[in-house]
Amino acid sequence: MKLCVVGTGYVGLVAGTCFAEGGNDVLCVDNVAAKIDALRRGEVPIYEPGLEELIRRNVAEGRLAFSTDLADAVKKSRVCFIAVGTPENEDGSADLSSVLAVARGIAQAMDGARIVVAKSTVPVGTHAKIRAEMAAHTRHPFDVVSNPEFMKEGAAIEDFLKPDRVVIGAATGDAFKTMRELYEPFVRTGAPILEMDNASAEMTKYAANALLATRISFMNEIANLCERVGADVDFVRRGVGYDRRLGHAFLFPGVGYGGSCFPKDVQAIIHTAHQEGMEFPVLCAVEEVNDAQKRRLVEKVIDEFGEDLRGKRFAVWGLAFKPRTDDMREAPAVVIVNGLLDRGAEVAVHDPEALAQAKRVFGDRVTYHRVNYDALAGADALLIVTEWNEFRRPDFDRMRKSLKRPVIFDGRNLYEPDVMREHGFTYVPIGRAAVRP
Ligand SMILES: NC(=O)c1ccc[n+]([C@@H]2O[C@H](COP(=O)([O-])OP(=O)(O)OC[C@H]3O[C@@H](n4cnc5c(N)ncnc54)[C@H](O)[C@@H]3O)[C@@H](O)[C@H]2O)c1
Repeated sequence: MKLCVVGTGYVGLVAGTCFAEGGNDVLCVDNVAAKIDALRRGEVPIYEPGLEELIRRNVAEGRLAFSTDLADAVKKSRVCFIAVGTPENEDGSADLSSVLAVARGIAQAMDGARIVVAKSTVPVGTHAKIRAEMAAHTRHPFDVVSNPEFMKEGAAIEDFLKPDRVVIGAATGDAFKTMRELYEPFVRTGAPILEMDNASAEMTKYAANALLATRISFMNEIANLCERVGADVDFVRRGVGYDRRLGHAFLFPGVGYGGSCFPKDVQAIIHTAHQEGMEFPVLCAVEEVNDAQKRRLVEKVIDEFGEDLRGKRFAVWGLAFKPRTDDMREAPAVVIVNGLLDRGAEVAVHDPEALAQAKRVFGDRVTYHRVNYDALAGADALLIVTEWNEFRRPDFDRMRKSLKRPVIFDGRNLYEPDVMREHGFTYVPIGRAAVRP
């Protein structure tokens, strides 16, 4: 099938590449010429495990190409995916200007029937706005499909090639049939393709993200209570997770959720509820708890070192909002590093992939270190913010010797408190008792 995917960010580039891998001819379109030029040179503008190799192979085999020319791409495609960003407006609603601009561009370029697929995360009712925008600019027939994306950054390729489920909202048999054809190669192991109306498909994406965010905030509250009553959240997490009704995923306490999706999607669904005269108190609390949790690690630093951090130096390991990505959008690390800087501390940061992004955020206010141990030199303490695998089994002796004081604030509970005590550290985790040598 001939397709175009508009928007070559985390979602569009992964989706386009995976559809090419599935045997389709795919044109990936973006309006940022520098991005398309880079992709044509074989440079991948984002870090996503496995993506570069998959792009290279599909480009070499002639199924994947890149363009800034939307009209040309639409003329060559039967199905047009919209995968542009839907950032947050000031009032919390989703900004649909890019989605609707692309819908208009597609309509203006159409020379026959098309299927237009909204893959961006869009509020309920957006399918109707897309339809109206397109109808005003074309006489040709078209279907609007709502096909939300559930991939996780850091495992996006695997998620796309082996999804738990595919959700398709549409109104015609032809649209469902075409979408089934596209996705069938990825659901051979029995994952369902769920067909529904557009509004339900749009809502499914928000409901899923909001529920995941709720689990995280809920567990962070449990962790904070564990600290007060002398329970260990790691035991609690396991005790809860083995319940088959609950499962283990998204029960890890930490420094709060971040990223380009949960914060804005929770905001957007609250905004939709308010528009409909509903308060949605559960999600308001989820947000409130998350904002507080992002400040939790710095509060622990203050408990140890006092409010005034002038003359103190801190190392921070992990800046991306989660491991295996370079994405720092809404990352808790931003709140944490700023919290330290605002109190006069010096900060030395390390992340395996996000240093280039971090430089855009922090400029010359922190020092950057490619090697994690280098960030520790002369530091009064280490803060662990992202649970990259390479931080799980470090050389503790080397760490203790590099640090000025052997203190670790672990926002991800990577280590066993008893082991840390044996290695001579003051170790301050989340939802578990701190230990001292
Ligand atoms: N990142 C994720 O993990 C994830 C997962 C599921 C769903 N989503 C949703 O998918 C959508 C895209 O997210 P993303 O993370 O890929 O965003 P992104 O910001 O990484 O990428 C968006 C891309 O669209 C391009 N773009 C914007 N306006 C354009 C236009 N008018 N014409 C052509 N290109 C244009 C931008 O240049 C950019 O390359 C959002 O709605 C997001 O909520 C994201």
